[in-house]
Formats: sequence, C-alpha cells, structure tokens
Amino acid sequence: MTARVCAILLLAAFAITDALVDEAVDVIKLGIEVGEEVLNSWDVISKPFNMSGGVELPVIRRKQRQILARLAQVTRAINKLESNIDENGAVLMLLAKRIGRGNSLELKLHEMSDLLSRVASADQKMREYTKNQRELERRTLEDFAEWCVSHDSSALPGLMERVYAMIVPPHKHLLGQTILQNILDDLQEDQLCDMQMSPHQLIYDMYNTISLTEIKGYAMMQFSWMLLRIYGKGNFTQEANLTRVRYAERTSRIASAAKSTLAMAKRDLYKCDPKEHKLGVTYEEVTKLLQGYIENEVNLNTEKTCTENCAYYTLTERHGCFEGEYCERQSCKGRIIDCQYIDSDMWVCPAGRNSPRRYEWIEYENGRTFGQAGTCSRGKTKVDSWWKWNLLHCSYCFCLCEDDIQSSERTFSLREALAEIERNKVVTGLRLVKHGRVFHLQISEGFLGERGTITPGSWVPLQKFDISEPGIREGEDYHKLTYERRAIDLDELDSPTGHILTGVRFRMIGAHLHFEIRSTPFNYTTGRLSSDRSQWISNDNTEGAETPRSRLALLRPDVPTRSAAPLPVDSRHDQYVEFVNSDFDADAAQSTVPFVDVQPLEPMRGAALLSGAGIIHRGARGYGGFIAPKLFTYDYSRHVRAQPPPDNIQEEESPDVNLPLNNF
Ligand SMILES: *[C@@H]1O[C@H](CO)[C@@H](O)[C@H](O)[C@H]1NC(C)=O
Ligand SMILES: *[C@@H]1O[C@H](CO)[C@@H](O)[C@H](O)[C@H]1NC(C)=O
Ligand SMILES: *[C@@H]1O[C@H](CO)[C@@H](O)[C@H](O)[C@H]1NC(C)=O
Ligand SMILES: *[C@@H]1O[C@H](CO)[C@@H](O)[C@H](O)[C@H]1NC(C)=O
Repeated sequence: MTARVCAILLLAAFAITDALVDEAVDVIKLGIEVGEEVLNSWDVISKPFNMSGGVELPVIRRKQRQILARLAQVTRAINKLESNIDENGAVLMLLAKRIGRGNSLELKLHEMSDLLSRVASADQKMREYTKNQRELERRTLEDFAEWCVSHDSSALPGLMERVYAMIVPPHKHLLGQTILQNILDDLQEDQLCDMQMSPHQLIYDMYNTISLTEIKGYAMMQFSWMLLRIYGKGNFTQEANLTRVRYAERTSRIASAAKSTLAMAKRDLYKCDPKEHKLGVTYEEVTKLLQGYIENEVNLNTEKTCTENCAYYTLTERHGCFEGEYCERQSCKGRIIDCQYIDSDMWVCPAGRNSPRRYEWIEYENGRTFGQAGTCSRGKTKVDSWWKWNLLHCSYCFCLCEDDIQSSERTFSLREALAEIERNKVVTGLRLVKHGRVFHLQISEGFLGERGTITPGSWVPLQKFDISEPGIREGEDYHKLTYERRAIDLDELDSPTGHILTGVRFRMIGAHLHFEIRSTPFNYTTGRLSSDRSQWISNDNTEGAETPRSRLALLRPDVPTRSAAPLPVDSRHDQYVEFVNSDFDADAAQSTVPFVDVQPLEPMRGAALLSGAGIIHRGARGYGGFIAPKLFTYDYSRHVRAQPPPDNIQEEESPDVNLPLNNF
C-alpha cells in the first residue's frame, strides 16, 4: 500500500468520526461518543512520535492542531446538546422559585449553580482557545491544560468532585441525602404549577445538566493530558487511565442516584388557579343546566290553580302565564324541577341581558337574601304572592330551571382528539375549550424523534360542529348534560410501560361523561411509533360496581372565582362529580358548577414526552371549583443508566424491553 492510499484511508477514518460526534441527542449517547472520540484522539497522538531526540516545533504544532480540532468537534457536540437541555436551567429555575428558601437546600443550590458555572466558563475558555490556537502562545494552552488536571482543589478535577459529592454525598449517614432528594422533599405545589414541569421532569433536567457537566469535564481533562504529552511533559497514559476510571465511577453513581430519585418523583402536571380568573380566557361555564327560577304556582299546573304547595312540583314545566304577573318578564322554556317555598314576597334584581344569569340577587321580605344583595343597576322588581278568591294562596316558588338546549351551553363533544400517529406525532399538550356551544378536548402534537426527543408542533384543529347542524347526533357526536345525566368521571390514566400518549376522548358510560386516553407503543431508541398496536385505555368502573366509583360532593357551592385562596386539587382517581346549580344563599343558584378550566396545559417548552392524562377537580369546601385536565409526563427512570466510557470502542445495546401491559 502506498503512502497516498494510507493518507486517504486515514482521512476517511476522520470523516467517519466527524459524523458520529455530531449526532448526539441525549447525554447518554453524547457520553458514549465523547468517550470514543477521546480514545480515537489518544490513538492519533500515539502514532510514531519521536520524543527522544527533542521534538521539532512543526511536529508539535501539527499534533496540537489535530488534537484541538478533535476537541473542537467534541465541544461543538456538547454545545449543541446543551442548547437543548438549557444548561443550568433546572438549578437556576429552582433558585428563582425560591425553593428551599432560607434552609440548607438553598445554600446547596447556590453552590451547585456556582460549580456548574465555573465548569461552564472553563469550557467556554477552552472553546475559544481551540478557535484561536494560531494566535495563542503555547504557554497559554499549557497553563490551561495544567489547571484542567491539577490536584489543586480549586482546579477542574476538584470542581468535578464537589459537584459529584452533592449528588452522591460521601458520608451518607452524616450528611444525609442527595441534593436530588432534597429538592423533591422541598417542592411546593404552587412552585410546580408556575414552572409547568412535573417533579420527575425537573429531576431529569437536573440529571442531564450534571451529566453534561461531567462529559465536559471529562473531555477537558483528557484533552489536557494529550496536550501535555505533546508538549513533552510526560507520557500520562496511566494518568489518563485514572481520569477515565474515576469518571466512569462518578457517572455510574450519579446515574443510580438519579434513577432512584426519578422512580420516586411524581409525574403529575396540571394548572393551578391563575392570578386572575377571566371568563373565556382561563375558564368557561356550563350554563342553564339547573338554574334558580322564580315561578308562581298558578303557572306550574295545567288547571291554573293554587291548590298545592311549592314542594308538590318536583318535575313540571310552565303551562301558562297569569296575566299581569312576573311571568310576563321571564320564562323557563325547559323543565322546572324541585320547587320550594321560601317566602311570600320579595325584591328581585334582574341580571343583564347578555349574562347567563337570570337574577343578580333576590331579597325576601323575611330578610333572607339569595346572592350578593346590593345595588341593582337595572332596577329591582317587587314580586308578591297573592290570594285567589281569598282562599287559595298563589305562592311564588323558587325552582330550578333546566332551560331548553337552544338557550343553554351544556354539550360536550364525543369526537376523538388524536395526534397524527402515522406521521409519528404524539400528544404534547391538552386543554378543554368551548367552541360555539360545545365543549371539546383539544390536544397539541409534536414529532417524536429518537431517544425521547420531541419537535414541538401546534394545537390540533378541533373537529368543530354545531349541535343544530343536520346529521349531528346526540349520543354520537355530543353529549347533552341533563338533570339525570350530568356526571363527569374524574380519572387519571397512565399508559403501560413503553407506551406514549397519542390521543384523548370523551365517551359515555351509562349516564356519565367518561374520559379515555389513547396509548401507543414506541421504540425509545428510534422513536418509531407502532400505530397498529395503539389502544384506548380507560377506567370503566361505575358507581354501581362492587367497589363503586365514589362521588365528589360539592357542599353548598359558591361560584369558584370568588374564592380568595387558590383552589387545590381535591379529586382522586376513580371519582366522579355532578354538574349542579350553585348555592341558593351564596349565588341564588344562578350558575352551574364546577366551572371548566380552559387554561392550556403544556409542559414547559411544549416538548416533553407524555404518557398519560386525566380529568381532575380543583376545589374547596363551599366552592364549586373547576374541572381541569391533567397530564402525566413520561417515566425516564428506566432510560437513565451509567455508560462507562469505552476502553475500546463497543456498540451500544438497546435499553428497550418489552414489558407486559400493566393495568392501571
Ligand atoms: C528520533 O529523532 C532522532 C533525532 O532527530 C533520530 O536520530 C532518531 O532516528 C529518531 N527515531 C525514530 C524512531 O524516528
Ligand atoms: C507510555 O507508557 C506506556 C506504559 O505506561 C507505554 O506502553 C507507552 O509506550 C508509553 N508511550 C510513550 C510515547 O512513551
Ligand atoms: C486503568 O487503571 C485501572 C485501575 O487503576 C486498571 O485496572 C486498568 O487495567 C488500567 N487500564 C489500562 C488500559 O491501563
Ligand atoms: C428498537 O429499535 C432498534 C433499532 O432499530 C432495535 O435494535 C431494537 O431492537 C428495537 N427495540 C424494540 C424493543 O423493538
């Protein structure tokens, strides 16, 4: 073989390694590739190299250039991944959220942030050196390389050891837990809501940041040994080996600390109350399902008599309007339910024309008030019961009106919201929206790539319709809430291992509106979805079963937007709640609760793997609360593992295992 052919082969070999290093999509893969690159680089400088007879300057220059070129490649790859991971993101965010404020955790977080930024700035310096090597004095590079491998505690190896000691404390029994566990213990609900991250995601982010720092440190130390060797400072084969062994040890312990913390960390993600409730922006209301309604007994029966009392009318409708009475001003076009007698005479304040309410408030002569009595901009009306033939008392009753469907908003779409599985898209966000008179589930989707990466996409357009369009059928296209059918199931559903969330829908089970998720298996390594094995998952338990679904009761519920304190999640998996009128005294039963939270739920950056979803209730005693969506972020713990740097190049094996479906 001629020298020329050799040179060409050598160039080809370089080209291959170039391609390898640039494609890393996560820290595990990057770690492997940097490890290989380090090994290859050692190969390059170990080629016949005449040390004895005093090395000539041009040779040093050439070797130095080669090494720095390789280092530049490595740092480019690190840089690229770093911009995805958002270096230091988790730590700084935690500090910003005042996690662990005033306790030892805050100190630890500050120290961690300091250490990470010192390694980062060293890395930055090295990056500049590799760019400007021609202008630099050899002494500058040599100094830097010496710092990178120095025993001094403030030098790079010392920094790496200190980062490590925070994740894996040296004296477990004395200094306690890993900082990862401290963070989990200290997280507060509102902090999580603000960040829009699950605790699991937060820990995974932190693990990625630390791993990336480890990889940077390792690359800097190894390339420093190489530079020092080129400069004739020594052989350093043993030292480089020790650096590698220590790095392997650290990364493996960090991985197992992260893995066990991740296994414990909750993956729940949901919205808390917004700073300010805004109709149409943060919430919507079901209207006129059951609404407080004043009607005189004389209009509640076909005979136009007043021989009964209010409580006699449990289910009726309006049969007429006695001339000159209050009924000329208002009507219930649907069913009239559960009437009761409160008091004979009252003042009524009517609500505005565009309000879903009928009345702002009612003030009875006996002093009892319904709603928040006060001034009345539209002018209050006196409504008095009367005697018929001085014999029969024709009382005004307080009933509930289930208004006709044209004047109310109480339908839910039963159409599926699916990500485009065929184009390898998965769900990245979820929200409830009202379009026209219909509530829908809406998802956002993103493209699933290899090793859990997602390219964020956009909200998938709704399958819009109006219930009055021809061909649109109740029970098939939509569900109409009625007095008898007004329950919604509160379930929190997660996918089996190795599956990912690709859709959601409402379906009817008996009289309940019921939530379900679509779950699709995927290959973590390649990111490919197996659309043919996609399945719907639901908790089909009913309230009539052996271990019945339990009811979340709303006790004398006021309108939730009036709560001074934020409303926490108060539902559990396997419950249901019924839409109902608001409290008589608090709100004159004018609203339908719970309200519907329409805040979009998308994990930070709109690009996290999601494995499950649910419908929850946020509320407290005395408030109707909100129905809201919830998500489960993907469980990364089984993909976190130590990957020792190779002492010779080896193929990576797939971490994917096919486990049997676990029933939630
Ligand atoms: C090393 O360099 C010295 C002096 O330049 C030379 O005499 C010797 O032959 C070289 N050795 C090798 C193995 O090239
Ligand atoms: C460096 O030391 C190792 C063994 O410690 C030896 O195998 C290798 O040849 C040495 N390299 C040089 C260039 O002296
Ligand atoms: C590296 O060091 C470790 C422990 O000191 C030793 O077991 C191993 O054989 C060394 N490997 C090489 C390639 O020198
Ligand atoms: C995932 O894809 C990789 C590459 O095609 C393959 O080697 C591996 O066996 C697949 N894993 C599973 C669980 O199918």
